[in-house]
Amino acid sequence: MKYEKEISRRRTFAIISHPDAGKTTLTEKLLLFGGAIQTAGAVKSNKIKKHATSDFMEIERQRGISVATSVMTFEYKDCLINLLDTPGHKDFAEDTYRTLTAVDSVILVIDSVNGVEAQTRRLMEVCRMRDTPVIVFINKMDRDGKNRFDLLEEIEKELKISLHPMTLPINSGKDFKGVYDLHTKSLLLFTANTKADEEDAFAINDLNDKILDDKIGERDAAQLREDVELVDGVYGKLNVEDYLAGKIAPVFFGSAVNNFGVKEMLDTFINVAPTPLCRETNTREVCPGEDKFSGFVFKIHANLDPKHRDRIAFMRICSGRFERNKYYHHVRLDKDIRFSNPYSFLARSKDVIEDAYPGDVVGLFDTGNFKIGDTLTEGEDFYFTGIPTFSPEIFKELVNKDPMKTKQLEKGVQQLTDEGVAQLFTQFGGNKKIIGCVGELQFEVIQYRLLQEYGAACEFRTLPFYKACWLTSKDEKKLEDFLRFKQTNSAEDKDGNPVYLAQSEWFLNTEITNNPDIQFHFSSEVHK
Ligand code: G4P
Repeated sequence: MKYEKEISRRRTFAIISHPDAGKTTLTEKLLLFGGAIQTAGAVKSNKIKKHATSDFMEIERQRGISVATSVMTFEYKDCLINLLDTPGHKDFAEDTYRTLTAVDSVILVIDSVNGVEAQTRRLMEVCRMRDTPVIVFINKMDRDGKNRFDLLEEIEKELKISLHPMTLPINSGKDFKGVYDLHTKSLLLFTANTKADEEDAFAINDLNDKILDDKIGERDAAQLREDVELVDGVYGKLNVEDYLAGKIAPVFFGSAVNNFGVKEMLDTFINVAPTPLCRETNTREVCPGEDKFSGFVFKIHANLDPKHRDRIAFMRICSGRFERNKYYHHVRLDKDIRFSNPYSFLARSKDVIEDAYPGDVVGLFDTGNFKIGDTLTEGEDFYFTGIPTFSPEIFKELVNKDPMKTKQLEKGVQQLTDEGVAQLFTQFGGNKKIIGCVGELQFEVIQYRLLQEYGAACEFRTLPFYKACWLTSKDEKKLEDFLRFKQTNSAEDKDGNPVYLAQSEWFLNTEITNNPDIQFHFSSEVHK
């Protein structure tokens, strides 16, 4: 395999969680272990606080932070770790789903007090679709949380994944004494604000050893012996193959804010987490060790300075070696382009890089060549699949408030939707522009950015749709007739693909039943 040394030391992953479970805190601790930051508090939360949903400066601040922390690369024990950030706010969920297409595994953070929450469920659905390997970190054990076994059961049931405890907690809240590491057979005693090299760990090969009673007291020692026996009986040894296949998730208990239990997880992570994986394209599977370079764009970020329209496209490298100043083939546009200032996200600063390897993410300056999902190769014509667009949840008509600025508005909408901020549909038969988003906040972002960056004023009129379905049919005539009869509910997406906009589940089911020759799809992937 070419570049084997570089590929085998890379781990590319994302941390996902419901807001407030501790994603930012855990990220910070991992960066501290990797030496990428020196002090706590250096990683800013990318959350938009609830009270600030209509505060535009807050949106801008968020954009600033999220570009700076989009990818965090650090080294730990010979491994090169690429941590891809995902937005905290649920209205940007689509952004998170796309980022998940660029990682090889995830760490899921669960708040021990709240258990499984709404966003955890949705994120895990996306992980399950792709069989992404998951490690679970049950956080905030220093708070009075749910019973450890109830939590495990809840996670297994709600997230439809089998778990494998790697550590077991000894109590929680103010009685939290630490964890027992089932793998290394050692006891880790809890102290608040643990430094990386100051862990209080004791090897306990025989759990019946009196030292356990001395360390945590007789009652808790007896309970731990019982717990370990139970867990050993039920779970046995971790089957890494099952983890890599996305069937089993190793679980760690800890407290991110106290840096407790984090190192154990990180050590396991670098041992078991997958190195860059092969990826599907429309023609064949592409593997990292191939000679020739390939990669795809999963995120586009506009320049924060409205005077400069250039953007940064984030490209995940899938195979071969990416080199600065070399011409690569842009498959969709069928043209060759090169990049003189690609940058990486190593440690604290953005650095221009000479080359990069599979698993890495490079930032490419873009003057409008890229759309989400675009593929670059060394000449071969294929594109990476599995970067779907899902149906938006809110639909609004875009109303131009200044006819003198029509051109600017069109350009702005085009560019913002290329970035993946929202989806654009054009109604059949009319020219009504429909914007679809996951959350209300995105409409505010669009309105604000169109005015600030393109000088175009617009407003939105609510439409009664609840879902968009992409349509295909072997019988073109039937599809055409359907689109004509259902004109008010028919539109085309940005790439000209036919879409049915359903008013309600009832309408959708009726149309599906009445039109057996037409297929209704819930993602745009079918049209690639
Ligand atoms: P998020 O990115 O997933 O949204 O969560 P974040 O890390 O911002 O954490 C949310 C809150 O939970 C923060 O408190 C953080 O300090 C706290 N937290 C994280 N890990 C632990 C833990 O192990 N134990 C306890 N008790 N709390 C934890 P905050 O008050 O919202 O913010 P801050 O003022 O502390 O920054």
